[in-house]
Amino acid sequence: MKTWEVETPAILVDLDRLERNVRRAQAYCDAHGIRFRPHMKTHKTPEIGRMQIAQGAVGLTCAKLGEVEIMAAAGLSDLMLAYPVWGAGKLRRLTAVAERCCLTVVFDSAEVADAIAEAARAAGTPIGALVEVDTGMRRCGVAPGPALVDLCRRVAELPGLTFRGLMTYQGWQNGPTDAREAQMRAEGDRVAAVLNELSDAGLTCEAVSGGTSPGLFFAHLAPAITENRSGTYVFNDRNMVSSGAATWDDCAMRIAVTVISNAVSGQIVVDGGSKTFTSDATPGFDGFGRFVEDPELTLWKMNEEHGYTRLGAGSPPRRIGERLHVIPNHVCVAMNMQDEIWVHRGDEVVDCWKIAARGKLR
Ligand SMILES: Cc1ncc(COP(=O)(O)O)c(C=O)c1O
Repeated sequence: MKTWEVETPAILVDLDRLERNVRRAQAYCDAHGIRFRPHMKTHKTPEIGRMQIAQGAVGLTCAKLGEVEIMAAAGLSDLMLAYPVWGAGKLRRLTAVAERCCLTVVFDSAEVADAIAEAARAAGTPIGALVEVDTGMRRCGVAPGPALVDLCRRVAELPGLTFRGLMTYQGWQNGPTDAREAQMRAEGDRVAAVLNELSDAGLTCEAVSGGTSPGLFFAHLAPAITENRSGTYVFNDRNMVSSGAATWDDCAMRIAVTVISNAVSGQIVVDGGSKTFTSDATPGFDGFGRFVEDPELTLWKMNEEHGYTRLGAGSPPRRIGERLHVIPNHVCVAMNMQDEIWVHRGDEVVDCWKIAARGKLR
């Protein structure tokens, strides 16, 4: 089957580019002695998780319990849930899945720590734990200081949990290379200071998890962070290119769409709207993605199934039925919109993989 025979809208993944991205990131982490635990929230696909492990990743990071369940069922054995778990039903699922894999959870409160510890004790299944520290993002995480030390001490003393260390999340790192290097060094310094405080309190961290794709190749500048959790680097997207962390050639995922109307002058409509793309914006770019065939096209407005696309001054007219390919602004959420990806080398479709962990909100 050829790529142009896949019905649109569809996700196409260039296997050569995907493998190159996976190999390059792993080689970088290996060269710097960083344990790589990529975030599967980007691909949500067991086949790609296995590819990452085969290249040398120590395990995977997940955002939701449902994602952990899918990956554990697919045979991935070392998983980290980088999101606080709350509620009796989820705790039952958590201890059940912890029997099938080596599981580490992350949280930032005594309430969550106590609840998970009690469930793990009752089930007789100890669970590893990282405490999230806020190093400036102000999303989740306890700020450095006595409250953080107290929480880590509590976790270390709680039967049912095994205190393993810390997690930090920095978010986007945009800007010129020297600014991003400085940001990474500062992050490393903040974490090192926290580790000193914990050490003074008699607490040892075997792991500190950090990292996002825009800063991936600067991770060695923060040696206190021992594990990296980048996710987007597998495919890359318009956000990654805008941040200066990837090139268009590094983008392995495209959304194939078809022109279904050209009746309104200066515009075409493609068969992907808000059920295919997402509303994420990219700094410095208009619209919801980049058209590979003509970067002057702007997907500026969406209804569920209609993508309103403005022609640029230099854009050639487009015929009904023409296929176009879009690199989305944010690949992780675009992957959540479809059931499968069509994997190809050149024009040849070589496989179709189910995005098994898509839609796992709980
Ligand atoms: C907690 C956490 N870790 C890691 C990542 C991966 O970051 P990126 O998608 O930039 O690779 C994310 C992304 O949202 C995240 O929320």
